[in-house]
Amino acid sequence: MARQGCGGHTAGLLLLLLLLLPRALLDGPLVFVALVFRHGDRAPLASYPTDPHKDAASTLWPRGLGQLTEEGVQQQLELGRFLRRRYKAFLSPEYRREEVYIRSTDFDRTLESAQAILAGLFPEASPRGSEADWRPIPVHTVPVAEDKLLRFPMRSCPRYQELLRESTEAAEYQEAVEGWTDFLSRLSNFTGLTLVGEPLRKAWKVLDTLICQRAHGLPLPPWASPDVLSTLGQISALDIRAHVGPPRAAEKAQLTGGILLDAILANFSRVQSLGLPLRMVLYSAHDSTLLALYGALGLYDGHTPPYAACLGFEFRSYVGDLEDEDGGNITISLFYRNETHRPPLSLSVPGCPAPCLLGRFRQLTAPARPPARGAICHGSSRPATAPATVPLLAGAVAVLAVLSLGLGLLAWRPSCLRALGGTV
Ligand SMILES: *[C@@H]1O[C@H](CO)[C@@H](O)[C@H](O)[C@H]1NC(C)=O
Ligand SMILES: *[C@@H]1O[C@H](CO)[C@@H](O)[C@H](O)[C@H]1NC(C)=O
Ligand SMILES: *[C@@H]1O[C@H](CO)[C@@H](O)[C@H](O)[C@H]1NC(C)=O
Ligand SMILES: *[C@@H]1O[C@H](CO)[C@@H](O)[C@H](O)[C@H]1NC(C)=O
Repeated sequence: MARQGCGGHTAGLLLLLLLLLPRALLDGPLVFVALVFRHGDRAPLASYPTDPHKDAASTLWPRGLGQLTEEGVQQQLELGRFLRRRYKAFLSPEYRREEVYIRSTDFDRTLESAQAILAGLFPEASPRGSEADWRPIPVHTVPVAEDKLLRFPMRSCPRYQELLRESTEAAEYQEAVEGWTDFLSRLSNFTGLTLVGEPLRKAWKVLDTLICQRAHGLPLPPWASPDVLSTLGQISALDIRAHVGPPRAAEKAQLTGGILLDAILANFSRVQSLGLPLRMVLYSAHDSTLLALYGALGLYDGHTPPYAACLGFEFRSYVGDLEDEDGGNITISLFYRNETHRPPLSLSVPGCPAPCLLGRFRQLTAPARPPARGAICHGSSRPATAPATVPLLAGAVAVLAVLSLGLGLLAWRPSCLRALGGTV
């Protein structure tokens, strides 16, 4: 999409054109939006044996471990109000069921977060208005064990386990873990946890507990110094990178975040080909969902999404002169909102500066999305049985569904990690 020519212009004018032209030409009217966000502030998921706040847990977190807090509700309301401002001209002033579709994972905190966002986005859905005007809005979900869209098969998917093993056996990973041997044995002593088996994951859980407590103004035990927290943050980032990054990041994505990415693209294709009035889909999920999506987009940068972080996909009709045969005249641009007081960051996938033509976006992300017959979950040790040809997403979902039945789904749990030092 490089623009050439302008030989006689001054450098300044050329720069100005380069800065202004692409946006001016490419930013056509919005046609569809997909949003994926993390739930709001929550109680820690767990405790550890020496946790000084362990016994007070039922007073500190009266709604229970892992539950959304009042602060979490406020964060989601605020995100909803931001969305109302951003899409004021795009959505009808009141909720219309044919325009907006909301799906959540089947956790209290994500279901509640979805409702809080909707109350911010559609004031009539806020119970704070008058009772006569209150209009509840449906939030769809499926049982956690059947959720192949927003919770990914991890432990239950032998192929994914193979890929993960390849990452954790890599020299770089092993060296990092070795470097933390002393740290982990001290951590084990501090916390009373035995860190054998999955030391990094257990270390992450400790970090989750500490960060939640700190965010709620609780004093941390003396050993939990800034240095210790920062090392725990690095450990957690290594663990996440092993799950969503290289080697074979694209194949990992086909079994995780690529499924959601594919569903979003399929949502838009359906809207377009059937001429549906649907304008927006909202997916209420977890940091693990966003991280997997980041992995599928090739954008994971070591940063963990804070509460209420929101990744948006905006589809616009393209008003430039370049025709995009694959994608129709549509561009896609991504934004990421992880801070309340700043405009969202605009993101672009490697190889396609925003706004990216949809056809090109599809091409670039194809390796990270499940193939048409569905991604293969069984390990390479088992002989491959050719799955019947089924439509794109249905295929992926069916294969994953069969293979993950009855097995534990979560290789890493949603966390309440925040950028260290950030305020909640
Ligand atoms: C940690 O180590 C000290 C000194 O060796 C010991 O007294 C203490 O009991 C240990 N704490 C835990 C929780 O294992
Ligand atoms: C969007 O995708 C989700 C997940 O596949 C699906 O449940 C929903 O029905 C889709 N909506 C449309 C309009 O395609
Ligand atoms: C894209 O726009 C051009 C010019 O506006 C038009 O000629 C072409 O048919 C459009 N292509 C598609 C696939 O809609
Ligand atoms: C927001 O995301 C950007 C990009 O990943 C990161 O650099 C920044 O630290 C994040 N801010 C917070 C508060 O998480």
